[in-house]
Amino acid sequence: MFSKKNVQYEALSLPDRFDFSEQEMLSRTKAFLDNMQKRHSVRQFDTKPVVEEVIQNAIKAAGSAPSGANHQPWHFVAISNPEMKKKIRLAAEEEEKAFYAGGGGDEWLKALEPIGTDESKPHLEDAPWLIVIFSQRFGIYDDGSKFKNYYVPESVGIATGMLITALHQAGLSMLTHTPNPMRFLNGLCDRPDHEKPTMILTVGHPSTDAVVPAVAKLKKPFSEIATVFN
Ligand SMILES: Cc1cc2nc3c(=O)[nH]c(=O)nc-3n(C[C@H](O)[C@H](O)[C@H](O)COP(=O)(O)O)c2cc1C
Repeated sequence: MFSKKNVQYEALSLPDRFDFSEQEMLSRTKAFLDNMQKRHSVRQFDTKPVVEEVIQNAIKAAGSAPSGANHQPWHFVAISNPEMKKKIRLAAEEEEKAFYAGGGGDEWLKALEPIGTDESKPHLEDAPWLIVIFSQRFGIYDDGSKFKNYYVPESVGIATGMLITALHQAGLSMLTHTPNPMRFLNGLCDRPDHEKPTMILTVGHPSTDAVVPAVAKLKKPFSEIATVFN
C-alpha cells in the first residue's frame, strides 16, 4: 500500500461529520460508558465458535485507528486453527512456568497474586480465536525499501483498544495475555523478525463457570484519573 508516489499532501473535504444535540451526546456517552463497564478480562472460555467475519470486522475497526504519520505499524494474526492454538499454548506455558517460578521477580509476582493467575493457560486452546498483535519498528515501501515508524507503542496501543472495544460491542469476551517473553510467537505466526509481538488477545464466549478476580472490579474514581480546568 505504501508507495513513494503517495507522499504528497492533498486536502479532501471532511468525509464524515456528526451533529448530535447535547442531549444525544449525553445519552450516547452514558450508554457507551454503561456498556464498557461490562467488559471483564475473562480467563475461562467456552469452545463455542465465533464466525470469522466478526473477527475480521473488529480487526478492520482496529485498522482504522490513528497512528504516527498514518504508518499503521501493526499486524494482526487471527488464529482459529486448533494445532496452532495448541502450539501457542504449550510455548506460552513453558515461558510462564519460568516466570511464575521466580523469573518474573518478587515484586511483579506479588502484584499478580490478587489476579489469581498461574502458568496454566487452557484458554489458549478453549477459546475459538487468538489474535496475536505485532508492532512494526519499520515499514516497507512497495519497492522493498524501508521507512521508519513513529510512536509505535502508542499507535499499536490505540489500535488494540479499538479492537477490544469492537469485540466487546459484539458481545464477546477477551483476555489480554502477555506471556513473557513472547518472541516464540514470530516463528509460530510466521512473522518477520522486525515485528515485535505485543499481546495475545484470546477471544470468545465465557464458560458457564467463568469468574473474575474481585480486585479487577476496583477502578479508580474519576477524581483520581482526571483533572479538569474550566
Ligand atoms: C498489557 C496487559 C497485559 C496483560 N497481561 C495479562 C496476562 O498475561 N495474563 C492475564 O491473566 N491477564 C493479563 N492482563 C489482564 C489484566 O490482569 C486485567 O486487565 C486487569 O486485572 C483488570 O481487569 P479487567 O480487564 O477485567 O478490567 C493484561 C492486561 C494488560 C492491559
